[in-house]
Amino acid sequence: MISNPDRLWSATGNRMKRSAIREVLKLTQRGDIISFAGGLPAPDSFPTAEIAEIAREVLEQDGAAALQYGTTEGDNRLRQVLVDRYNNIEDIGISIDNLVICTASQQGLDLIGKIMIDPGDKVICGLPSYLGGISAFKSYGADLIGITLDDKGLRSDLLEIKLKELQMRGEKPKFIYIIPDFQNPAGITMPKSRRLEILELAHKYDVLIVEDSPYREVRFEGESQPMLYNLDNSGQVVTLGTLSKIFVPGFRIGWMIGHETIVDKFVMAKQSADLCTSSFVQKIAALYFEKGYFDKNLRYIIDSYRKKRDLMLKSFEEYMPEEVTWTTPEGGLFLFMYLPETMDAGELLFDAIDEKVAYVQGDVFHCDGSGKNTLRINFSFASEEMNVEGVKRLANVIRKKL
Ligand SMILES: Cc1ncc(COP(=O)(O)O)c(C=O)c1O
Repeated sequence: MISNPDRLWSATGNRMKRSAIREVLKLTQRGDIISFAGGLPAPDSFPTAEIAEIAREVLEQDGAAALQYGTTEGDNRLRQVLVDRYNNIEDIGISIDNLVICTASQQGLDLIGKIMIDPGDKVICGLPSYLGGISAFKSYGADLIGITLDDKGLRSDLLEIKLKELQMRGEKPKFIYIIPDFQNPAGITMPKSRRLEILELAHKYDVLIVEDSPYREVRFEGESQPMLYNLDNSGQVVTLGTLSKIFVPGFRIGWMIGHETIVDKFVMAKQSADLCTSSFVQKIAALYFEKGYFDKNLRYIIDSYRKKRDLMLKSFEEYMPEEVTWTTPEGGLFLFMYLPETMDAGELLFDAIDEKVAYVQGDVFHCDGSGKNTLRINFSFASEEMNVEGVKRLANVIRKKL
């Protein structure tokens, strides 16, 4: 190795930090730990037999193209399937030119950062917000401004104060990053009224919205709220979607929907990032939809996660000390827990790991470092039995500290 490797790093390289979640996940790979830490789907939701059947069919019928480079925009059959689904379910009236495939939504977040953020640019996000989004934007030098959430999501009154303040200083944020459905990490869903308030502000102050919605279709109960993209319909919202939580994360398939101008720039950035997303997995995914397997499996995922959420909530009621509170998500993979203000979930994590249960401390989701007394719990990955056992262990760890 060369001497003083630090001189190798660019400003971007220097801004990159290890992900706290990845570090906890490494620990939890020790088999004896019950992990509420990752955002992992349940392994029993992966339709391996159908994928094996379809992979063979793709190779036999379209093998040369499946194993060849593809276009940067993505496989047209998959794009069309996704466009049709959005138009049928959400009625958003998009065409294939509005949707580009990316290597899952994490690449989408990174490319958005790449094409829009210069060091020092302001980006507004929720307090808390998805760590992978925060890290991607920070790596390009974004100056993140956190807006507190309430039970309806990002607070529009605080957003307006912040936008006004920036305007008075002659500044404009590059975009507002919003996870409107079953937010990661808080589990909160933004009702239509709040979405409209935020859109009105975005229009008034002329700011783009990045809508990131990986959990949208994993709804257990209640009514689906319209996409920000749909409520806007003027090109001021870009939306990211992914197959990770509704099919399989290992395929690394996601997409960005937006105005042609933004799609065009996004495609240029993707070209230098990876040329194209894997042709093979895109073709398998397209055929999986076309054969009608998708909806049946999605129903299984929803039913299974609903049961896990219900049991988790019941176990919390039963075992958690009364000083502890939590959110009740209507869908998705996570709920968020609040310890008494004086407790630090980061410190508590060492005790939890000793007791063989893990979670992610909530401050890593707060771009201003607040939220020390919060933690994120995933309920999709472990079995129902392990979830209950994990809650018992966690409750004991908290009780001992109280
Ligand atoms: C809000 C949010 N956005 C994006 C991602 C990235 O997902 P993927 O890259 O697998 O599509 C996640 C993953 O947990 C997420 O929670």
